[in-house]
Amino acid sequence: MTKSALPEGAVIGILGGGQLGRMTAIAAAELGYRAHIFAPQGDAPACDMAYASTRADYDDLDQLNAFGAAVDTVTSEFENVPAEVMATLATHAPVSPGVAALSTAQHRIKEKTLARDLGIMVPDFAAITSAGDMAPAMARMANGAVLKTCRLGYDGKGQARLKAGDTGEEAFASLGSDDCILEEMVDFSAEASFLVARNAQGEVSAFPASINHHEDGILATSRAPADPAVLPPALLKDGQDAVAAIAEALDLVGVLAAEMFITPKGLVFNEIAPRPHNSFHWTIEGTKTSQFAQLVRAITGLPFGSTEAMGQWQMDNILGQHMDRLNNAIGEDGVFVHRYGKAEAKPGRKMAHLTRKV
Ligand SMILES: Nc1ncnc2c1ncn2[C@@H]1O[C@H](COP(=O)(O)OP(=O)(O)O)[C@@H](O)[C@H]1O
Ligand SMILES: [Mg+2]
Repeated sequence: MTKSALPEGAVIGILGGGQLGRMTAIAAAELGYRAHIFAPQGDAPACDMAYASTRADYDDLDQLNAFGAAVDTVTSEFENVPAEVMATLATHAPVSPGVAALSTAQHRIKEKTLARDLGIMVPDFAAITSAGDMAPAMARMANGAVLKTCRLGYDGKGQARLKAGDTGEEAFASLGSDDCILEEMVDFSAEASFLVARNAQGEVSAFPASINHHEDGILATSRAPADPAVLPPALLKDGQDAVAAIAEALDLVGVLAAEMFITPKGLVFNEIAPRPHNSFHWTIEGTKTSQFAQLVRAITGLPFGSTEAMGQWQMDNILGQHMDRLNNAIGEDGVFVHRYGKAEAKPGRKMAHLTRKV
């Protein structure tokens, strides 16, 4: 243990009250730390697992300052926390992710530009700030394209798909944002995600990769560690090196996930998330140290644990429309059930996940 590691009983502040905060709080408790959640009013499954909760809006400066004063380190379960919020909290305690990592992960052009500058392959892309930008950019996209808002998109929201030859002007109007990115449509054989943890000493710990299947823009299933027939060892290394290089460039302390497309030319970068990632929930059972435990270790100064996988795993997301599947699986031998404690099962809402050995 490094001299500077936070002692048992120290308080980890977590911004956001969702399932990622909940699972981080559980991992914190297992390592002897206490979680203090900061989340707006409403359903906040993380608060059920916490030693303390502050229920306030992110622009409530008094509450933010009181929260900052009450915690020893801060992390966030979502990347859209306003940079000013993190800057305020950084006056009280170390924050993960820091302002540089946040502002990059919050903007699709910034993250793709950083990846490209680091020599990571990215799809051809163009900034779209007015309808007039569409035609010249679409002219470059022989394979069709995806138009996305640069900010606040998640689970496929804030996106439109365009065929080669479409003008895309209607799609641009429908997104209702003047800060968009047009990306060429990537032909991929599979989608992979990569995850590293990085601590204040700059040490990096990489996880095995996941292979992800999305339905309607939302992650449905992850399988991991990635089958080498789908992600050859050389590409596994490329992906792990790429996400480590990004973490270093952003001086990130915490965890960083990257989504990449597997193509015949190699990996093509899609996006990053400076937080635990849905496609690594299988690590709770599947690796010797989970993504949540490794995040806690990274931000408290505890040494990293092993990320060695213990077998092959499949993780299935349970959305609001899948509650029957959850109820059927709950008594099934070999299924690890993680319910998030959310009151209302709305379609598309992440309610639980199931992990099983395959
Ligand atoms: N340029 C692209 N080419 C092909 N498919 C894409 C492209 N961009 C996104 N997608 C598909 O849409 C999904 C969601 O897009 P993504 O950029 O990851 O947004 P989100 O922030 O909503 O996860 C991706 O996982 C992938 O399946
Ligand atoms: Mg994504």
